[in-house]
Amino acid sequence: MAPVPHLQTGVSLRSFNTMGIDAHAHALLPVHTVDDLHAVRADPTLNALPRLVLGGGSNLLFTGDFDGLVLHMRGAGIDIVGETGDAVLLRAAAGESWHGLVMWTLAHGLGGMENLSLIPGSVGASPIQNIGAYGSELKDCFHQLSAFDFETGEVLHLDRAACEFGYRDSIFKHRLRDRAVILDVTFALPKQWQPNLRYSELAKEIAARGLSAPSAADISQAVIAIRQRKLPDPALLGNAGSFFKNPVVPAAQRDALLARHPTLVTYAQGDGSYKLAAGWLIDQCGWKGRAMGAAGVYEKQALVLVNRGGASGAEMLALAQAIQRDVEGSFGVRLEPEPVFV
Ligand code: FAD
Ligand code: EPU
Repeated sequence: MAPVPHLQTGVSLRSFNTMGIDAHAHALLPVHTVDDLHAVRADPTLNALPRLVLGGGSNLLFTGDFDGLVLHMRGAGIDIVGETGDAVLLRAAAGESWHGLVMWTLAHGLGGMENLSLIPGSVGASPIQNIGAYGSELKDCFHQLSAFDFETGEVLHLDRAACEFGYRDSIFKHRLRDRAVILDVTFALPKQWQPNLRYSELAKEIAARGLSAPSAADISQAVIAIRQRKLPDPALLGNAGSFFKNPVVPAAQRDALLARHPTLVTYAQGDGSYKLAAGWLIDQCGWKGRAMGAAGVYEKQALVLVNRGGASGAEMLALAQAIQRDVEGSFGVRLEPEPVFV
């Protein structure tokens, strides 16, 4: 069997995850094309190892060393590949930066992704949890994707319905988990663009800037400004964004909570259920700005756990579990982590 080129062994993952956890991987392979994945599958030793597909490492928690093979997605390229009656079709390789792609679309006069500006990470990871922010989700501009299936060695093509997108959810967290490696994603961007100002904080920011007819670039800049005010920059303070999902509860449970806690923040989901602001729940339990060792809760946003320097994955996990216990004790609601634990 020919050796797989560029394979590295005994690799520190510290610079590969935005939480800044100093875990080690048994082996790491930069993946540029599907041929690299065919080579792994054809190598019995490599193919037998546990696998982790890695993009920008901005939605992961390394709870310890990873005794397996990290496939680091590095494929590059952004191209306009066609059009439909009302949309331009744009394809980007998995290894492209998500925010870089959003900036590329704006530079080429294309709107539709601006509400998702400044989300860290790669294009290939964007469908995994159907990234969302400021009134938009990936599924709104998604057209289709290609993925390598490690089980069969074939390339799958999945449209929007096949991806089963939900709130921070997709088929890649369920049936295709540990199996599909996303190679590229195709987006449909509207020819007749309309601003999306459904998120009230964004609408207020646009109004405060005196913009009565904002462009997609104006909206992008407003989103970036809000995000920079509220969220820590991983280059300066290790974090993985929201550490928990906002819990979704039935109307009766929301009503009972609201009766006891009149300032509870809730969002109607349109199907009778309500999303609760997990940041509010954690804040009310007094966790904002607190720490357990080097693992802390960000002082401006209680939903973001931060590595104040040298925290281990186990320390981050202990803090997360303490928060879960308190929130469940006070509100009867179980918080579910958003990042993937490795
Ligand atoms: P990684 O962390 O590398 O991987 C995440 C998961 O995806 C892992 O399970 C991994 O195996 C899998 N994966 C990665 N690439 C592939 C691939 N090509 N094929 C198959 N599986 C793959 N998220 C939001 O939704 N909204 C936000 O507003 C938001 N804000 C954030 C702010 C900050 C400061 C930070 C640090 C994170 C934020 N996030 C947000 C979370 C994160 O940016 C997204 O989840 C992002 O899509 C993760 O991309 P990544 O490349 O870093 O993925
Ligand atoms: N809140 C508090 N205290 C806090 C934090 C928040 O009371 O410490 C309250 C806020 O006042 C607000 C509400 O909770 O009324 C919601 O807070 P925010 O607007 O900051 O949004 P979020 O629900 O905490 C979600 C996403 C973010 C996304 C923003 C904007 C989840 C888990 N998180 O955060 O996504 O950027 O909305 O759309 O859905 C991520 O997934 O990593 C992420 C950052």
